Amino acid sequence: MTRLNDAAFDQLFHNARSHPTYAGKAIDAATLEELSALAGLAPTAFNQQPLRVLYVTSEEGKAKLDEAIVPGNKPKVAAAPAIAIFCYDANFVETLPKVFPIADVRGYFADPAGAAAAGQLNALIQSGMFIAAARGLGLGMGPMIGFDPAKVKELFLADNGWQPLYFSTLGYVEAQPEYDRLPRLDFEEVAKVA
Ligand SMILES: Cc1cc2nc3c(=O)[nH]c(=O)nc-3n(C[C@H](O)[C@H](O)[C@H](O)COP(=O)(O)O)c2cc1C
Repeated sequence: MTRLNDAAFDQLFHNARSHPTYAGKAIDAATLEELSALAGLAPTAFNQQPLRVLYVTSEEGKAKLDEAIVPGNKPKVAAAPAIAIFCYDANFVETLPKVFPIADVRGYFADPAGAAAAGQLNALIQSGMFIAAARGLGLGMGPMIGFDPAKVKELFLADNGWQPLYFSTLGYVEAQPEYDRLPRLDFEEVAKVA
């Protein structure tokens, strides 16, 4: 493997921001499929792939979602062409025979609390890769936690085991946010080398 060029790092990291607004252009279904496929390539324990994404793209869906969004985040949701609600599937154990056919590991997840912790951890790893994938596809994102996950569950996901974790706006970027990036911690603060 070789190091990506500087332009790739700029797009994925240095110039990538959390976006409050986007161009009006819609995101087509094929792009949403590609995003989910790329996130599916993330490393997960026993290849469990517990991330599930609820995409809200219709005006009807956004109007329904509005009830679950804290007031300060509502304008960002209303202005975005798509919303991705990142969930973990509490029933991911059921698909383990498909995604990890080399051994039956379902017994490791017999304890519901342990299974939930594993589902959340691995779904969050996948969602981080999703954000990088979106940037790679030329999309911007605006992740947010200011919402009521139980309300989203009730409104959209009452019939399945998906548990909302956080959500993000998603769209084509037309301009950088007007405010500067907030400070990042230094290497000495975030790392130890043993
Ligand atoms: C899990 C998560 C939750 C966040 N929640 C909110 C939120 O509720 N509202 C908001 O405006 N921004 C929210 N943010 C955005 C962060 O403030 C932003 O990602 C951070 O300041 C870095 O900004 P930058 O990507 O432009 O450098 C959230 C980000 C993450 C990853």
